[in-house]
Amino acid sequence: MTSTSRRIGVLISGRGSNLQAIIDAIGEGHLDAEIAVVISNRADAAGLARAAAAGIETLVLPHRAFTDRSAYDAALVEALRAWGVELVCLAGFMRLLGPTFVEAFPNAILNIHPSLLPSFPGMDAQAQALTHGVKVSGATVHLVTADLDAGPIVAQAAVPVLEDDTAESLSARILAAEHRLYPEAIRLLLNGRWRLDGRRLLESRPPQ
Ligand code: GRF
Repeated sequence: MTSTSRRIGVLISGRGSNLQAIIDAIGEGHLDAEIAVVISNRADAAGLARAAAAGIETLVLPHRAFTDRSAYDAALVEALRAWGVELVCLAGFMRLLGPTFVEAFPNAILNIHPSLLPSFPGMDAQAQALTHGVKVSGATVHLVTADLDAGPIVAQAAVPVLEDDTAESLSARILAAEHRLYPEAIRLLLNGRWRLDGRRLLESRPPQ
C-alpha cells in the first residue's frame, strides 16, 4: 500500500469473504489500491472484524436509522466522500441503492453477483440456477446503475454446475471464483483502460 494508491470503499452486510479477498489481493501486491473504509448497514456483520484485523477503518450505518432510501443513500455518499473514496465496491451489501447514490459515483460503483448475468439477477441466484438446470453458472462483476444487477459487465468467471449440486455446494464453488474475480475486476476498473459503448464495457488496448 502506498500513499498514491487509489482509495476504494467496500460496503458489506455480512460475512465479508469478498472483502477478505480484496484485502488479501492488496496485501499480496496483486492490487494497487487502499481500502479507505468498510461500511456495513449491520453492526453484526462478520466482515467488520476482518476489516478491523487488517487495520481498516469501519463505519456502521444502520439503514433503519433513516427515514427513507434517499436519506440513507445521502449519508452513505457523505461518508464515502469524507474518506476520499473514488471507487465503491459492493461486497454482499444487501441494500438497494437509489439514484442519489448511483449518480454520486458515476461509473465508479462495482457489485459482485453470484451468477452469469443477465441470467438469474436478484436474490438466491445459485438456487435459481439449479432450478433452471443450467450446466454452467458463475460470477459477474458489473458497474452499478439504477437497474438491479443490469449495469455494464466488467468481468465474469464460469464454473460448472454438477448433477449432485445443492445450493450450498454450488454457492461454495461460485464463491471461490468470486474471490479471484473481484480483485481482477477492481484492477481493470482502476487502470482506466476501458470505455463504455452503450451497455458494453470495452477494454481499450494500450498504445503501441
Ligand atoms: C456473494 O455471493 C456475492 O456474490 C453476493 O453476496 C455474497 C457475499 O458474500 N452479492 P461475502 O459477504 O463476500 O462472503
